[in-house]
Amino acid sequence: MCSVVGYVGKNLSRSFVMQGLARLEYRGYDSAGFACLHPSDNRVIYAKVEGGVSNLLKSFDSLPIEGYVGLGHTRWSTHGGISTDNAHPHFDCKRKISIVHNGIVENHRDLRRELEQEGHIFHSETDTEVIAHVLESLLTRHENPKNAVIELVNTLEGAYAFAIIMSDQPDSMIVARKRSPLCLGSGEDEMFIASDLLAFADKTNKVLFLPDECFAFIKKDSVEVFDFNGKKLSTRFQIVDVPQVDDLKNGFEHYMLKEIYDQKKVIKDTVSNYKAQASSIWHQMGLSAPQIKCLQRISLIGCGTSWHAGLVAQFFFESIAGIKVEVGLASEMRYRTFFPDPYSIAIAISQSGETADTLEALRFLQNHKMHTVALVNVSSSTMVRQTAGYLPLYAGLEVSVASTKAFTAQVAALYWLANAMAYERGKIDKDTFKAAEDELLVVAEIIENSIEEYKREITETLAAKYAQYSTALFLGRHIAHPFAMEASLKLKEISYIFTDSYPAGELKHGPLALVDEKMPVFIFSVVDEELYHKLLTNAQEVKARKGHLIVFAFEGQTELIELADTVFIIPKVNPLLGPLAMTGLMQFFVYSIAKELGRPIDKPRNLAKSVTVE
Ligand code: F6R
Repeated sequence: MCSVVGYVGKNLSRSFVMQGLARLEYRGYDSAGFACLHPSDNRVIYAKVEGGVSNLLKSFDSLPIEGYVGLGHTRWSTHGGISTDNAHPHFDCKRKISIVHNGIVENHRDLRRELEQEGHIFHSETDTEVIAHVLESLLTRHENPKNAVIELVNTLEGAYAFAIIMSDQPDSMIVARKRSPLCLGSGEDEMFIASDLLAFADKTNKVLFLPDECFAFIKKDSVEVFDFNGKKLSTRFQIVDVPQVDDLKNGFEHYMLKEIYDQKKVIKDTVSNYKAQASSIWHQMGLSAPQIKCLQRISLIGCGTSWHAGLVAQFFFESIAGIKVEVGLASEMRYRTFFPDPYSIAIAISQSGETADTLEALRFLQNHKMHTVALVNVSSSTMVRQTAGYLPLYAGLEVSVASTKAFTAQVAALYWLANAMAYERGKIDKDTFKAAEDELLVVAEIIENSIEEYKREITETLAAKYAQYSTALFLGRHIAHPFAMEASLKLKEISYIFTDSYPAGELKHGPLALVDEKMPVFIFSVVDEELYHKLLTNAQEVKARKGHLIVFAFEGQTELIELADTVFIIPKVNPLLGPLAMTGLMQFFVYSIAKELGRPIDKPRNLAKSVTVE
């Protein structure tokens, strides 16, 4: 994870670097740092702090830090604890080389041992500091810095994106990347460098995505790109659609709350945009109508919340379009045996499009010649460039680390897609397809109305009541089970309450041993009558052990409603859209519990929004 931001240009670097870091703080916020070359004598001046960008800004009060070439970093710790010493930038022995880095150098221990034997002194526990010392050592043997960098990148193992400034090369910056993302923005006599173009989205739309396994020498008006063998590449800046930089909370206390309320619009935007693209949708996926007709299997892959969206969507494709689905947890699936199947495709689901586990899973599938499609919210992301097809999500910028509206956008898009495939395959007619689109719009209204209906009760009594529990169980059946997994994840990540989720039928096979009067058990109901009755039995099993039941039920489910200690009732919808209809209310409830506990909701401890390490 971590974010790398840099500037080389006609202006002082600090203002852009700090603004860029603030925008990319979603990538990590354990510590932050900045370094630049002093214009008078090219010495490195720097500041680094524990905590995020606001702490770094405060540290500048006492320091005259300014320079035209500068770099900055926010950290999500991998090697070494959270401390000022471990914060980036890191330096060589003579403090002539400053580096910021995103990724993991896997052979850092061996390199450190060798360097220590050569007499290098280290000041941190990080793998990053090793890079600065390796380069220092190589520069004693190579007069030409380019040759030193070639040897450097071929010495380092792992995945990385780094930016380096050197007192001996005061007008330029060296960057390199292997797997981890890095892009450059070109302005007039200035270059912007960042892990994500969001950092410079308001400055330029001329962007160069540094190709994988390449390094570059950047000056304010030129860039030279080389592959890891030192071969010069002809690369061009392209004009891209830069994301809207709308980082306002619009009066909401937290981004998460704003994003929960954005969801009605997200569903409406999803339906209208997919409707408008309907005639070209297979082409966008890199497929044709005959291929959709022959499709026998879809692999949906993702991590965390995106994986949960895939688990929900499995039911859409199987029951509406008659296509077998496998849902792969990206961090695990590539270690299993692969069974080739010519009539199958993989859809990677991701908000950021930068999740390393998902990117690696895609590489694995592509090595097996599988057709891959990205369903991604950030159109400029690596995943979009790495796949044969791309379907956009219409969530808009999601800032809160805990994903809310991206989940809704994913589920809505996949529901639409399953219906579009069903229509193409002759499983449903035009009217049924249109009715499915209308069902999504009905659900969009329910998401917001249900929050409004229960808002007062949640904020005035329920949040305080449930904030007192230290554990919770989440249960669901069928399509409501992956939704229970998502609810469980959401509560644990923002409240730090320990939670676990199960298919409700599994309760009696073990977890029931945990149930007593101190255990709140969340049950998410299903619309389907048969499944509902099975779920009812599971709820009774909990009550019989004095468990405390919090039920999300549909209108008319009287027996379940009467069993509950706390109940939320929402209108009946198409059974496959039940989880989506409950989404807003569930998220608002867990948000309110975390707020009651005084948690840093938008940036929970130890997490980052974009998980770019495996
Ligand atoms: C949880 C959450 C994470 C992400 C996961 C995948 O609220 O946000 O579990 O869903 O890290 O991220 P993306 O979707 O960016 O690939």
